[in-house]
Amino acid sequence: MDQEKLAELILNRRTRKPASFHAGVPSDTITQIINTARHAPNHHRTEPARFYLLNRDKIIQVAQLMAETIKGDGQDPILVERALRKEKEWSNAPGLLLVTSFSDSNSVLFSKNQNLIEENYATTCCIIQNLLLLFEASKISAKWSTASVWKHPQFKKTTGLKNPEDEKFVGFIFYGYSEHKPAIRALSPLQNQLVDYSGED
Ligand SMILES: Cc1cc2nc3c(=O)[nH]c(=O)nc-3n(C[C@H](O)[C@H](O)[C@H](O)COP(=O)(O)O)c2cc1C
Repeated sequence: MDQEKLAELILNRRTRKPASFHAGVPSDTITQIINTARHAPNHHRTEPARFYLLNRDKIIQVAQLMAETIKGDGQDPILVERALRKEKEWSNAPGLLLVTSFSDSNSVLFSKNQNLIEENYATTCCIIQNLLLLFEASKISAKWSTASVWKHPQFKKTTGLKNPEDEKFVGFIFYGYSEHKPAIRALSPLQNQLVDYSGED
């Protein structure tokens, strides 16, 4: 792929709402994409990302936990209404992938490296961007969500986290096919964010 095509892919990747997803993606396609996406920069080669490809039962259970998280004690009718809407939206999502970042707290590396959790998190975020770009190239729509359902006391058990103490939640990735085609998102001027000394002697 030439530079122009890659730039086009990056610019066209946009978040799409799961409510607009009308069809699921074969799990073979997803596992192949995950496998490729894992190739990201990774200090100490720790391979930190953990992927949980949820089935319908688990998607519905996570949707219920999300609704409980939103409605709290159930006293606020606005929150109860929002919880119901979210539960419906999430339960109907055709595909849901949970991504965590694992840092082995029993390893020598962990005891010697104060930044290990952050570095592993950085690698996992790079992997998610790879995933999203591969989705875009495969015409699969996606949304990365850090909705606070991961704070629910039942979250780790429901999703079956393998190392609940050492896995940091990084995101839910909703995915499916959608006709929705948002425009390229305009950003603020680069000068606001770039300090460029390169032209100076
Ligand atoms: C770490 C992370 C967490 C996000 N969590 C949420 C979320 O909880 N709910 C949501 O609606 N969007 C979430 N998003 C999507 C962003 O809102 C979205 O990327 C942003 O609006 C920019 O739109 P774009 O992805 O189309 O460029 C998240 C994105 C990232 C990177």
